[in-house]
Amino acid sequence: MRVLVIGAAGQLGVDLCAAFSNEALYRADLDGSDITLDVCDQSAVQRIIHDLRPDIVVNTAAEHEVEQCETKPARAFMVNATGALWVAQACAQTGARLLHISTDYVFGGAPPQPLRPYGEDDPPAPLNVYGASKCAGEHLIAAICPDYLIVRTAALYGLAPCRGKGGRNFVETMLSLAAAGREIKVVTDVFTSPTCTLALARQLRLLAEKARPGVYHAACTGVCSWYEFAKAIFEETNVQTTVTPAKMADFQSKVRRPNFVALENKRANEAGINIMSHWREALTEYAAARRLSTRATAP
Ligand SMILES: NC(=O)c1ccc[n+]([C@@H]2O[C@H](COP(=O)([O-])OP(=O)(O)OC[C@H]3O[C@@H](n4cnc5c(N)ncnc54)[C@H](OP(=O)(O)O)[C@@H]3O)[C@@H](O)[C@H]2O)c1
Repeated sequence: MRVLVIGAAGQLGVDLCAAFSNEALYRADLDGSDITLDVCDQSAVQRIIHDLRPDIVVNTAAEHEVEQCETKPARAFMVNATGALWVAQACAQTGARLLHISTDYVFGGAPPQPLRPYGEDDPPAPLNVYGASKCAGEHLIAAICPDYLIVRTAALYGLAPCRGKGGRNFVETMLSLAAAGREIKVVTDVFTSPTCTLALARQLRLLAEKARPGVYHAACTGVCSWYEFAKAIFEETNVQTTVTPAKMADFQSKVRRPNFVALENKRANEAGINIMSHWREALTEYAAARRLSTRATAP
């Protein structure tokens, strides 16, 4: 099987490449992988996909720094919507299966009542430019590419740096704040399904091989507040520090963000192919993998 991963050097891309490492793998990126590719460059996307003829294209490329998307909406829509369209078009022309990564942030504007994790059939209602641009990408893909899998995930953390967010993810931000002895205030009134890229990459491979075309959710199971997540991070890593509970309103932001975006992996469950672990179990796996990688890079 030939697999092209776009965004291969990213936080998720690195684990995805490992999950597909026994296949003929092509790594593409803006910068830093085997193939230099900008998804906004229609002719480059066409040329590379037509030349390589992959069976599966995984597109993780995104503008996803939420505040930056808000101040540069044209760029956000260019990468997250138009770029996704160019990839989908080339996949449709060559018969490749497209696995496109989307986000929980397509939701938030119209939470289900009574409150419960969002399923794939809940109508998207993004609250900000990032969510709207990813939502637009989803519509374009579904309109043009017969063999598409749109996989929404949430609150990612992985061993590789999150390139679109200056190398940060929540786990590493918490640990570096603690190491610097800084005060740590975390919200108790915003809920998500924190998802480790190690677990997600395994699920994505299974979906790529077994799922019927359509929209899927793939997040670690269970729901927690960011405060609960922060406490769990320090427990797992044996770091003694104080986490002060805060409210969303305590943090000034020009960007509207949803306060509840937990996802239910309903379709994968129904198809008997949901292998996502609980968020706490995934955090334990991450902490163990992190210890190993820190040991391997120690002088
Ligand atoms: N991080 C989260 O919490 C989160 C939550 C839900 C969904 N997601 C979705 O998950 C996906 C992966 O996120 P991640 O955390 O792995 O992000 P990441 O570390 O920023 O990786 C994104 C990758 O895409 C590449 N890229 C960016 N713009 C590109 C372009 N125009 N053309 C080609 N490649 C481009 C980047 O390349 P360079 O490094 O060379 O710029 C980078 O390798 C994204 O689609 C995001 O929307 C993320």
